[in-house]
Amino acid sequence: MTGTIKTQIRAYGIKVLLSRHPEIRKLKRENAPGFHGNKFWTSSWLLMDYFNRRGFPERANVMEIGCGWGLAGIYCAKKYAAAVTGVDIDPEIFPFLNLHADINSVKIKTLKRSFSGLTAQHLKGMDVMIGADICFWDELVEQLKRLIVRALRQGVGLVFIADPGRPTFDKVAEYFQKKYDGEILDWTTRRPRTISGSILKIESH
Ligand SMILES: C[S@@+](CC[C@H](N)C(=O)[O-])C[C@H]1O[C@@H](n2cnc3c(N)ncnc32)[C@H](O)[C@@H]1O
Repeated sequence: MTGTIKTQIRAYGIKVLLSRHPEIRKLKRENAPGFHGNKFWTSSWLLMDYFNRRGFPERANVMEIGCGWGLAGIYCAKKYAAAVTGVDIDPEIFPFLNLHADINSVKIKTLKRSFSGLTAQHLKGMDVMIGADICFWDELVEQLKRLIVRALRQGVGLVFIADPGRPTFDKVAEYFQKKYDGEILDWTTRRPRTISGSILKIESH
């Protein structure tokens, strides 16, 4: 008996193509993401599980920073009718995001910017900022802290950053816990498999 090789998965109502899927293989021949954007990372599932269990505002303006393939933003667009902008320093990841937006029947705006390059003008009008697996180098700690502070000053009401629990993420999370009443939640999901990590949640009052 021959088994069929799985080329896509589905969880939380969204479809994700695996690296061996012919469309992904084709995109990888044409684009070479640097900065770790060559695949989707697991912390997006933590955000989806958190939103699924605890709720998420309907029709919010959402910015996903360091979006990569943009799965968490795609989930917000699909399930909560969010207007999502996916931001990344690396334009080579956008074809992967666009493909996933297409197969999930949502539209996602894209913006090529670094964390430091996002100005007050970009942040104005956003309700929620999300990010998954985006704090993995020492130099990103300060960039991310400054970006989140700018976002809160521009009226972004909710920030969610998920991570497997790297020391670099802990530095950012502890800063916002102390200075902005941020919550650090240990979170585990069982879909699409068991994944554990932390979520930093900041609610601006
Ligand atoms: C580990 S990947 C995570 C991608 C996606 N969030 C996910 O969960 O699959 C990190 C992403 O952050 C982006 N990135 C790295 N440094 C960045 C920076 N300074 N500003 C904006 N994006 C950055 C990378 O291009 C990459 O897409």
